[in-house]
Amino acid sequence: MYKLEKSSTPLYIQLYEQIKEDIKNKNLTGKKLLSIRKMCQEYKLSKTTVESAYNQLYAEGYIESHPQKGYFVSEDIYKEFKKQKSNIKNKENPDKKYKYNFFPAQYSDDVFPKKLWSKLHNKIISSSNFGIYPNKQGDLGFRKQIAKYLESSRAVSCTEEQIVVCSGFSDSMFIIANILKEFTNTIGIEEPGYKVVQKVFQQVGYKIKPISITSQGVDLKQLERSKSKLIYVTPSHQYPTGVTIPISNRIKLINWAIKNNSYIIEDDYDSELSYYNRPVPSLQGINNNQKVIYTGTFSKALSPALRVSYIVLPKELLKVYKEIFDFSFSGVPIDIQKTLELFIKEGFWDKHIRKMRTLNKKKHELMKKAIQTYLKESVKIVREGSGLAILIKPTVKIDMNMLQNLLEENLIKIYPVHFDSSLKDEVINIGFGCFKEEEITPAIVSFSKIWYKAVL
Ligand SMILES: Cc1ncc(COP(=O)(O)O)c(C=O)c1O
Repeated sequence: MYKLEKSSTPLYIQLYEQIKEDIKNKNLTGKKLLSIRKMCQEYKLSKTTVESAYNQLYAEGYIESHPQKGYFVSEDIYKEFKKQKSNIKNKENPDKKYKYNFFPAQYSDDVFPKKLWSKLHNKIISSSNFGIYPNKQGDLGFRKQIAKYLESSRAVSCTEEQIVVCSGFSDSMFIIANILKEFTNTIGIEEPGYKVVQKVFQQVGYKIKPISITSQGVDLKQLERSKSKLIYVTPSHQYPTGVTIPISNRIKLINWAIKNNSYIIEDDYDSELSYYNRPVPSLQGINNNQKVIYTGTFSKALSPALRVSYIVLPKELLKVYKEIFDFSFSGVPIDIQKTLELFIKEGFWDKHIRKMRTLNKKKHELMKKAIQTYLKESVKIVREGSGLAILIKPTVKIDMNMLQNLLEENLIKIYPVHFDSSLKDEVINIGFGCFKEEEITPAIVSFSKIWYKAVL
């Protein structure tokens, strides 16, 4: 249906523009256009208006005229535009300012406790010695606080000796990949999963073995068959499916590692942000098995901009770490480490987590309601209740390329991800953390208007 209205734009131009958009964005190759007479009747237009619109489309090659038969959409236009658009999409501009950016792992600027942080930071600046080199592995006081927190909140069993302070998840993975290089050259990785892991391990020279995700988490039989001696998992909330590995399979996974003298990398990236139930205790803490390398981050509950993460190494790997990385310092500046130490020590971290849970739960509910109201039955929510995003799966046929391009034109950004082991199912990560509460419904309203245009 075309929308033609009285405006300063002549009717024939309005009609021409709308037909042209359809031809560019939908696969209409070879389709017959309404005859001039029918178009006049249907839209109550004069013959001259329709003829002028068709003539313009014909002149530009969008349609062809077949004598006695009518006008038809020319071949290859949709295909060529699609190619061109996917090229445009690949040349992403990271600095592009979006009206609504549904990035699944960021916060609106009002969330970070700026006043408190600057007070603590000032204290640290005036009391720290900036003339000396810091501890390579990370400040000892900060590591003590991390160890205490992990023990009390995540049931991780460790001492500060085992903790390495890193500057974000990719740094954590880079260190782990290098520590284990002499031990194995193959890693099993959850499929679907977080692509950063694959990229880092590939760069360090590992072979990647994708291991499927079942409703019980990573497929243990496939893992056994893969003969790998290292596996990366997100046991509390699998990324992206949200599956939690049940206790029976956690024990089996650990037994696999003990029996095969293998290691498990546990990525506990978002356990602080669980809205419907208490976070599941860590895999690392089960039997103090020394087979799990635990990784965590301050990105999810505090700030992704600070770039602070940490690893808990089994004692036998600590020696290897110290040998390999004896030249290297933690990438996190000492003032950030010491401010975070104070933040945890004085009880602000625990309070902050509670506050984040309440705030994010509210945003999560608003987003869920907006999705249900405006996208209705055209999507199914496939992951919710934790983190900073809701995952939706189309229940209708969607042209994902067209959707993304139309959204880009309207300054809206979404993040499709694969959701099944065969990588056929594409779902969309709808971040809510990045919006203020009052922005959530308008964001979904704007998104939904474009969404329906991409339904095939
Ligand atoms: C699966 C997973 N692991 C780890 C992280 C943490 O990343 P970083 O510490 O680099 O912010 C994220 C962030 O979104 C994630 O999705």
